[in-house]
Amino acid sequence: MSYQVLARKWRPRNLQEMVGQASILRMLTNALEQKRLHHAYLLTGTRGVGKTTLGRILAKCLNCETGITPTPCGTCHACQAIDAGQFLDLYEVDAASRTKVEDTRELLDNVLYAPTQGRYKVYLIDEVHMLSNHSFNALLKTLEEPPEHVKFILATTDPKRLPVTILSRCLQFHLKRIVPEQITAHLQHICTAETIINETPALAKLAKAADGSMRDALSLLDQAIAYGHGTVNQSDVNTMLGNMAQDDIRPLLEALAAQDGKQLFNISSQLAEHSPDFEQVLEELISLLHHIAIAQVVPHAVNVDESIALLAKRFSPQEVQLYYQIALLGRRDLALTPTPHQGFEMTMLRMLAFKPGTHLTPIAENAPPTIAKASIPNDPSTPATPDAPPIATTQDTTDWRHLLSQLELTGMAYALAANCTLEKITANKVILALSDKHQPMLNPKLQERLAEALTRHFKQPITLDILITAAELATPEKQQQQEKKQHLDTATQTLLQDPQIKQLIDLYDATVKVSLLP
Ligand SMILES: Nc1ncnc2c1ncn2[C@@H]1O[C@H](COP(=O)(O)OP(=O)(O)O)[C@@H](O)[C@H]1O
Ligand SMILES: [Mg+2]
Ligand SMILES: [Zn+2]
Repeated sequence: MSYQVLARKWRPRNLQEMVGQASILRMLTNALEQKRLHHAYLLTGTRGVGKTTLGRILAKCLNCETGITPTPCGTCHACQAIDAGQFLDLYEVDAASRTKVEDTRELLDNVLYAPTQGRYKVYLIDEVHMLSNHSFNALLKTLEEPPEHVKFILATTDPKRLPVTILSRCLQFHLKRIVPEQITAHLQHICTAETIINETPALAKLAKAADGSMRDALSLLDQAIAYGHGTVNQSDVNTMLGNMAQDDIRPLLEALAAQDGKQLFNISSQLAEHSPDFEQVLEELISLLHHIAIAQVVPHAVNVDESIALLAKRFSPQEVQLYYQIALLGRRDLALTPTPHQGFEMTMLRMLAFKPGTHLTPIAENAPPTIAKASIPNDPSTPATPDAPPIATTQDTTDWRHLLSQLELTGMAYALAANCTLEKITANKVILALSDKHQPMLNPKLQERLAEALTRHFKQPITLDILITAAELATPEKQQQQEKKQHLDTATQTLLQDPQIKQLIDLYDATVKVSLLP
């Protein structure tokens, strides 16, 4: 017989076999004993805590031939068919793969007909938040007037994405993460039953890494058994988990090497989704950097694996030293940050912001060109006044920026408008100014699109004149750039005040480089 993964082999078949979730099980048991049943249940909770399992058990509780019961017999035709996935009145749908409305319609088409085999038709819709809006509407219609013989069991990891109309018609049960002690005990139970030699601290380590998910715990146990050739011991488990952690962390360093802030941010958010122990993540990062530093000095050392050798080539030794130092400080101060995730993210952003070896150029030195508010000269060829003082945002331009945001313009038409200032506006005419530098953007088609947008906005015909001027204009586009720059300046100044950063600058002769994430 082929190897069956533990998570499938050990799927609980009745309420008594479920680990954790005590209060939910008690409520369901009472409801089943008293036959006080709701027509739609919503099971929520992170992955691998028993939502699908509980849904199938409920289908048995409702359809067991011994009667509606919290303790289905497991031997009647209905119980066995449900366990084998062959029960005709259990409609199990994975909404993640069937999101189109036709699918839901097709599914709900025969909802009105009586069940063929059992007492109830049970619709178990997994990952229900993935349904399209149309599908939700089809489902909602049925939930509003459910036939007597139908029960819905909806499951999702993300109830926030469900429409309230659906939420309000379901009885919701939130399945909690399972505590490490209960996971460890369950792993122990399974190892004993499977005659797997094991060390309890090794199982506890797997349980902790599973972070509340029994499915994750069982697949980690599968891997540990394979890794340890049939036994589960502490040192194997440590090596295995360490290697896995480094697999998760390597992409962070790759993003750092590519100086790709967006990617770095994405990876760090993905990491956070599994709510890891960030102190441990930083420790793994520190030890990975240590390996990289060694690989830089002794490229052909026996223990250097290929991915580390590649990373070693992408950083300078100074960079590795600097990142190592930043990671150490980040780990030390993790307890002081509002959340470990935030502390971790700041540590990564700090690494991105530093480049050793170059000198610090305060941003203020390359200030933006001064911008003047131009009035349209009678003669458009009149050059702009030199030395014009920097403008404060004038009323006109603010209004134009506001108006522009309401015009529903896109693409080139938006770009053109954003490079104009508003000179005059009357009942049926709008006059804009455009700097001669941007004159190449202007063409009749775009001007027409702009006029149409204005006409739509004011709900009356508007003619549009665009005057060309040699003056510098304080356009919405320029304002936006200025604001962005101010943002960056403020961020840079704040960073430069940070005592840790000052220390790093001194230690490594480093430069602060701040850029905006897109
Ligand atoms: N509460 C639990 N008690 C015992 N085993 C569980 C529990 N939750 C999950 N499992 C194990 O994990 C596997 C997957 O669980 P599943 O119900 O599909 O999780 P979910 O639907 O919440 O993602 C099950 O087959 C079972 O082996
Ligand atoms: Mg599931
Ligand atoms: Zn039965």
